Amino acid sequence: MVEPAFSIGARLTRTGRRIPAGLDEATIKAVVEDFYGKARRDELLGPVFRTAIPEAQWPQHLATIGDFWSSMLLGTGRYHGRPMPVHLALGGLDDAHFARWLALLRQTVEAICTPEIALLFIDRAERVANSFRLGMAAKRGEDSSAIVRMRALSQ
Ligand code: HEM
Repeated sequence: MVEPAFSIGARLTRTGRRIPAGLDEATIKAVVEDFYGKARRDELLGPVFRTAIPEAQWPQHLATIGDFWSSMLLGTGRYHGRPMPVHLALGGLDDAHFARWLALLRQTVEAICTPEIALLFIDRAERVANSFRLGMAAKRGEDSSAIVRMRALSQ
């Protein structure tokens, strides 16, 4: 059921955005764990994660990512990092990586979340992924106006 935009007792972020029913820290944790389980086993993304994140640092990484989504979707402000330089520093990420990352996220949230919550995750992830693509193109000195927005497709 689609809820009205405003209703008495609706949960709101600090900026007044309505938080859909069922979107909470437990949902975010389930999405993050399932997504990174898949991403680490993925033949394209797995090697990137294995190279950058030693086994012992995974709990910390998952906690950081949980904070990121909590800030993005629940407006908690728990994430204080700057993901752009982190991804620029990884080097070697191309559109195939982003397409796979977004497809895996879509697969994950469509399996775990209501359609409304899944769309929120996908929308935010697409925006961030596309901002990384623009940042990477700028770093390579390319004309970023030629870059076409990437959407999360099913794979
Ligand atoms: C090509 C797709 C992507 C790959 C392969 C990738 C890989 C990684 C890796 C390896 C790290 C850890 C880096 C380190 O600690 O040295 C990282 C951190 C992170 N990633 Fe991604 N990433 C991708 C896309 C995204 C997208 C689309 C988002 C957001 C929607 C995202 C959010 C984050 C965040 C929040 C961090 C933590 C940054 C920090 O330390 O504050 N990533 N990513």
